[in-house]
Amino acid sequence: MVQVAVMGHGVVGSGVVEVLENHRDSIAKRAKEEINIKYILDIRDFPDSPYANKFTKSFDDILNDQEVKVVAEVMGGVNPAYDFTKRCLLAGKSVVTSNKELVATKGAELLAIAKDNNVNYLFEASVGGGIPIIRPMSQCLAANDVVEIAGILNGTTNFILTKMIKDHMSFEDALKMAQELGYAERNPAADVEGHDACRKIAILASLAYGKHIYPELVHTQGITKITLEDVAYAASWGGVIKLIGQVKRLEDGKLDISVEPMLIDSSSQLAGVDDVFNGILVKGDATGDVVFYGKGAGKLPTASAVVADIIDCVKHLKARKYLYWADGDASLVKPYEETEYPVYIRLESDDKTKASEKVLELFPGAKVIARTNAPENEIAFTTGSISVSESDKAIAELEKNGISVKSKIRISDL
Ligand code: HSE
Repeated sequence: MVQVAVMGHGVVGSGVVEVLENHRDSIAKRAKEEINIKYILDIRDFPDSPYANKFTKSFDDILNDQEVKVVAEVMGGVNPAYDFTKRCLLAGKSVVTSNKELVATKGAELLAIAKDNNVNYLFEASVGGGIPIIRPMSQCLAANDVVEIAGILNGTTNFILTKMIKDHMSFEDALKMAQELGYAERNPAADVEGHDACRKIAILASLAYGKHIYPELVHTQGITKITLEDVAYAASWGGVIKLIGQVKRLEDGKLDISVEPMLIDSSSQLAGVDDVFNGILVKGDATGDVVFYGKGAGKLPTASAVVADIIDCVKHLKARKYLYWADGDASLVKPYEETEYPVYIRLESDDKTKASEKVLELFPGAKVIARTNAPENEIAFTTGSISVSESDKAIAELEKNGISVKSKIRISDL
C-alpha cells in the first residue's frame, strides 16, 4: 500500500479525495498498489467530513512521515505552496499539482529539484482541467517541433463570453453563474483579467520550447472591456470573440506569445468551443493540427487529472518521468509592440465623414463592417496586418482628431 497526502481541501482538493476514495479498487488495479490517503492538510476544520480523522493542520506531519511517498498540492497560490512543494521534493516525495500559478512561476526550479532528488513533479491538472495535454505534449508529440499552440484555456471567461454571445447576458451575471458553478478562481480577477490563461500558455510554451517562459513575459489582456457591441460586430464579420492564449515561433526564432481576446473565424476549430470547455490546438511540424477538447475547469475534471498523476507517481516510485524545462529569460520573447497582426477597431465620432477619411489615411485598406441597430456615430472596421506600435500610434492620432476609439481587438489567423 502506498500512502499519500493531499494538501488543500478546497474545490479541487475535496474532489481528489472523492475520486481516490470512490475509485479505490479500480485505481489500485491500475496503479498495481492500493493507494491510501494518510493526511489531508487544511487550516480549516471539517468535523462533519467522513475523512475527519485524516485532517491535520501541520505540514510537518506530512513532511516527516517517511511512509508518505506522494503528495498532491492542491492549495493554489504561490505561498506557502512553493515552500511546501520544495521541502516535499527535497525529502524524496513526489509531488503532483493543479497549481498553475506555482508551475508557471517556479516550474524550472521545482523540476530541477525533482530531478536532483530522483522524484517526480507532475502537473497534468494545471492546464485544461480534465483534458490530457501535458502528458500528450511531453510524450506523444515529442517527435515534433511545435510550430504553434493556441487555446481557449480559461473556462470561466469562455463561459462568460458564450453567455454574452448566445444569451446576450451581462458580464456580471455570467461571472456570478461561473462562480456558483465552481469554475472561477478564488479571486475571479485572475480569470477575467487573463492571468489564469497567461499561466497556462506560459506552462505550455515552456514545455514545447524547453525553456521557462515566465508569465511576466507574456502580454496579457482579459475580457473586461469586451462589450455586446463588439460581440455583434464579430458576428457580422463572420466569427466570434474568444480569449486566446497563443504562442508561435517566428522566423527570427523568438516567440510571439500573448493572451488576449481575439476575433476568430466561425470556421476555426476553436470557434465552436463554448461554455466551460477548453480547446487547445497544437500545430506540430510532423503531425499538423492536433486539437484537445474537454472540460477545462470544475471539481471532478480537474481532480481526475490530479489523481491520474498520483497513479503515475505510484507506478514510477523509483523512476523519473521525463518532464523538464530549463530556466529562461526575456530574450526568448518578441516584444509585444513589435508583433504584427490585423485588428478590428470600433470608434465613435460626431463627424463620420471626417472620421472615415482619417481611418483610410491611417489604416489604408481598412474594411468597414456593419451591424444592425448601430448608433449613427459608430464606425467599425478591420485592418490588414500592422505592428502593435503602429496601430497604437494611429489610434492616438484618431483620438487627437476628436475620434473616440472604443475597442481594438486582434484578428487571429486560426
Ligand atoms: N478558473 C479556471 C478556469 C479553473 O476557469 O479555467 C481551471 O484552471
